[in-house]
Amino acid sequence: MNMLSKVVIPVAGLGTRVLPASKAIPKEMLSVVDKPVIQHVVDEAVAAGFTQIILVTRSGKSAIEDHFDSHYELEAELDRKGKVALLSSVREILPEGVEVISVRQPFAKGLGHAVLCAAAITGDEDFAVMLPDMLIDSDTVGTDMVAMVERYRSGGCGQIMVEAVPQDQVERYGIVDCGGAAVEAGGGAQVQGMIEKPARDEAPSNLAIVGRYILPARVMSLLQDTQPGAGGEIQLTDALVRLTEEATLEAYSMTGNLYDCGNKAGLLQANVAFGLKHPETAEALRAFLARI
Ligand code: G1P
Repeated sequence: MNMLSKVVIPVAGLGTRVLPASKAIPKEMLSVVDKPVIQHVVDEAVAAGFTQIILVTRSGKSAIEDHFDSHYELEAELDRKGKVALLSSVREILPEGVEVISVRQPFAKGLGHAVLCAAAITGDEDFAVMLPDMLIDSDTVGTDMVAMVERYRSGGCGQIMVEAVPQDQVERYGIVDCGGAAVEAGGGAQVQGMIEKPARDEAPSNLAIVGRYILPARVMSLLQDTQPGAGGEIQLTDALVRLTEEATLEAYSMTGNLYDCGNKAGLLQANVAFGLKHPETAEALRAFLARI
């Protein structure tokens, strides 16, 4: 247990599922209403109390780091014109006390390898991992992440966020085995095993890992000797299977709505869901949807 201030966000993926939109800009910079996807994910992390955002990135993705940096000319121009609201929307992308750090993943060797690239920064601290493709819509930003942090603090064990998915989708995800326990939304159960992208007849349940984890520091040393698994990649799931042999890991069942913004349909759905809640777009979007 420790302060839990660090979150690792892997952003080195090529974004092939959203091409051609992601050819020259990172897929994490595609927008959901008026913010890039990555900012929604960072907002969720900040709401849950994380103060060190560690981006695991690669060449060609510097727009992400620029987004979280200050933009002197733009700010000076907005200030000169007295555009106060716009100025604060640009200045307040990161609140006081939150910093973005980036490290490189030089080779695309999988999620486990990406997380391992942050080991020098996480050191001996427990940390969170958040995958930027997945957006969670809740009434209050970060509700599920806050709940996982509380469970980690009270029980002292690692947490993996899951959601029940249709049986014909299990092969897209890491699937957890909770020994058949019924896991209600907002509740949890001990993880007994996990399989990355199982065939339908091999899946131990339909509880899919949704890309939010709170993990003990020990995971980094397990990742160091994790061999390539599903898809020939070094899988975080495989290191977590080994972790369950020596420590308790819990699955937490999310309460919000999940959108996979790494694919075209998910990105559109997220835009509709978030657009129907945004004060500047809700009314016009509702009228438009009713009309078509
Ligand atoms: C990764 C994880 C997988 C998880 C998924 C959620 O897979 O390895 O366990 O279910 O994210 O999006 P990827 O989507 O990177 O193939």
